[in-house]
Amino acid sequence: MWFNSLSRALGCCLVIVCQSSMASSADDSPEVFVLNDQCPAGFARNAENHCKLDSLYNNYQSPHGSGVGGLRAGLPALRDGFSPRVIDLGRYLFFDPILSADHTVACSSCHDPDYGFADGLARARGINNVLLGRSAPSLWNIGFFDTLLWDGSKASLEEQLVGPLYADNEMGNRPDQLLRDLNGNTIYRDLFRQAFGTSNIALDHVYEAITAFEASLVSLNSRYDFYAHGLQTALSPSELEGLNVFRSFVSRCGECHTPPLFSNQEIAIIGVGEPEGRPFDPGAAATSGIPGQRGGFRVPSLRNVARTAPYMHQGNFDSLRETVAFYNGGRGHAVPEDEDLLIHWHIWDPKLREEELDRLVDFLHALTDEGFMPDIPEHVPSGLPPGRAISRNNLTSR
Ligand code: HEC
Ligand code: HEC
Repeated sequence: MWFNSLSRALGCCLVIVCQSSMASSADDSPEVFVLNDQCPAGFARNAENHCKLDSLYNNYQSPHGSGVGGLRAGLPALRDGFSPRVIDLGRYLFFDPILSADHTVACSSCHDPDYGFADGLARARGINNVLLGRSAPSLWNIGFFDTLLWDGSKASLEEQLVGPLYADNEMGNRPDQLLRDLNGNTIYRDLFRQAFGTSNIALDHVYEAITAFEASLVSLNSRYDFYAHGLQTALSPSELEGLNVFRSFVSRCGECHTPPLFSNQEIAIIGVGEPEGRPFDPGAAATSGIPGQRGGFRVPSLRNVARTAPYMHQGNFDSLRETVAFYNGGRGHAVPEDEDLLIHWHIWDPKLREEELDRLVDFLHALTDEGFMPDIPEHVPSGLPPGRAISRNNLTSR
């Protein structure tokens, strides 16, 4: 049984290799922009021309996991069902700095594929190089989430993306300028016609296309997943030891970082200390108004976490080893003296051995899978250089 499943999963991987090499030769010529009629890798096209996720996890039921670390737990619903062309249009928009007020910042400036769709910085930098209050999270598997942002304050991708587009310190744009810039670009008018049947560009279509692209960023074929589907040898002995620590009642990691998403999407107060000189971040309490959520953050997914250092809401830790060691430091050890937080009951004093912490890190590396990486455009319709993370220029964040 698992062999059939596995060869199906591997089949998907082989398909992407061909698809991406074909697509990149088309991207090499800057003048020609033709939207892809095929669904991204990992998706199958249905009779309505909608791309639906094709994953072995669709065969597993129990959407919220079955206890700690249930291997065959199902996934929450994905925001899928967009047409191939809408998804591909979203890909160009995501990488195009034309979306920002001064045409220097794209979504991909802070969510760069080479940094796991994060940016490698402790705190992100927006328009005019302004330093933001928090770190840019990875966008892998973000289409499965309905609790978005570090404080869990947004419920859909559309609701979230207007934040960065129009925030003065992120992309600084205004709806009327965005529409003017896009409608003034003949390539975009043609691409929106290809995707939506009209070259009169509307904001809802812009938001839908970006959402469609984000929801296509799926990572479910890591070594952990092969193991979960039944391939016993997919994890090395040290990764397997790490998985066992991860889902044990001692470490309790799997209680909050619930497979297969490695997040239960809940707000949890774990009491991470801020980097030196930074004020205490009230987290969810500031947006929900619920005092008991002070210092609470939405449990992040751990997929591709090895690609997205530094860690936690302000890049509080440089490495996975430091991050994992935090949980061994004793309940509330990093909370400022003048704060009285309702630390989650799964955060305690597990007294893990140094080797067990090392094994946890080994296991987190087994959650890496970027097999369905989309094509990164070399040219975008505006003719501007596609947005990439600032870390590439060796700018430091602190
Ligand atoms: C200037 C950097 C920057 C830009 C530009 C930017 N983001 Fe973000 N993004 C962030 C930061 C920082 C956060 C976390 C903010 C918070 O939670 O307080 C974030 C969070 C997100 C999240 C939520 C992730 C999660 O785990 O809940 C999504 C989705 C997202 N961004 C998508 C986008 C899209 C789409 C665009 C372009 C329209 C974009 N971002 C532009 C920095 C940026
Ligand atoms: C009570 C729920 C809970 C438990 C138990 C828990 N975590 Fe977390 N984890 C969180 C929350 C919430 C955050 C984000 C906190 C922040 O940014 O301040 C987080 C962040 C992380 C991060 C950083 C992710 C990123 O992208 O920055 C890693 C790695 C991590 N946890 C691993 C673990 C491991 C390993 C264990 C077990 C030893 C564990 N967690 C136990 C809730 C939990």
